Amino acid sequence: MRSLRARFTVLAVASGLIGAAGLSVLAVLGLLDWVAAVQLAATGAVGVAAGGTGILVWRLTRMVRRLSRELDAHTHRVSEAIAQDRVEIISSLDATKGEVRRIRKQSLPGLARDLVRQGRHDYEQQVAWTELRDFLALENTAPFMPSLRGWAASPDVLRILVAAIDEHRPTLVVECGSGASSVWMGYALRRAGGGRLVALEHDERYAELSRELVAAHGLSDVVEVRHAPLTDWTPPGQADSAAPRPWYDEQAVADLHGIGLVFVDGPPEATAEQARYPAVPVLLPRCAFDAVLVLDDADRGDERAISDRWLTEHQELTSRDEVTEKGARVFTRNAS
Ligand SMILES: C[S@@+](CC[C@H](N)C(=O)[O-])C[C@H]1O[C@@H](n2cnc3c(N)ncnc32)[C@H](O)[C@@H]1O
Repeated sequence: MRSLRARFTVLAVASGLIGAAGLSVLAVLGLLDWVAAVQLAATGAVGVAAGGTGILVWRLTRMVRRLSRELDAHTHRVSEAIAQDRVEIISSLDATKGEVRRIRKQSLPGLARDLVRQGRHDYEQQVAWTELRDFLALENTAPFMPSLRGWAASPDVLRILVAAIDEHRPTLVVECGSGASSVWMGYALRRAGGGRLVALEHDERYAELSRELVAAHGLSDVVEVRHAPLTDWTPPGQADSAAPRPWYDEQAVADLHGIGLVFVDGPPEATAEQARYPAVPVLLPRCAFDAVLVLDDADRGDERAISDRWLTEHQELTSRDEVTEKGARVFTRNAS
């Protein structure tokens, strides 16, 4: 707009100067009198002003039309964006409503079931813990008993082990994986009036902790915690065909015979697939004929597969499932 005005001003001034100069020359030469020259100049100026105004109006009209088109296009784009946003908001609202409906329908009953199951487990563990304490007469033990559940065995599986010690009076108990259970079973052996427990522990740090725990309960004469690092193990006679898996160093069990009770609660699941499988091939030949073997965490897929392999590979074994918090399977030899 400014350049248009500048161009028009230059044009108007130039035509005015040229017109005025032409008229002055005509007046000087006497071809035109001065009054007529001034009138002609004024008429010219009015004409230039009118022409300029026309051009200005024409350019303005074009500009207004262009702006109006741009405004229309912009308005169109904005309305399209708003419509698109609306569609997205509506579909995400629909998805949220669907999710809320799904959570209401499925998860709430599931959550309620889990809560009921957890409550039942908590109650069972409390009952089992109380029974263990009463049975082992632990009210007057000096240090507090090591807590159970979580990484440690649960009271319900310990109740099975303590009952087995009470019933079979084993002279030797072997535990794969030391910890709280070593203390509880130590008290059960002391109550039974004889027998000892060898707890295999792959982790040197935990072996030391478990030893301290056992000593704090005055059970070092009953419970021996053996550090047995995990080493490659292959089934006997299959060194060439089977892949080795880590298990407790067999040297640690070389002197053990006539084992009456085995508690398989290690090595930890994370150390290998079917990490606890070697327990039976290694320890069964070292067990008494009436030995009892208890596998903890038997509800886990890995442990179910291990149980099935043991039963297939050792026809003399029979098993029964015990309903416990983590699942327990008890193996005995068939009477023959
Ligand atoms: C499944 S846990 C069970 C150990 C034991 N049978 C018990 O029930 O207390 C197996 C492993 O936990 C580890 N462990 C021992 N004491 C622990 C502790 N205080 N905290 C965490 N892990 C421990 C040991 O390496 C052990 O071999």
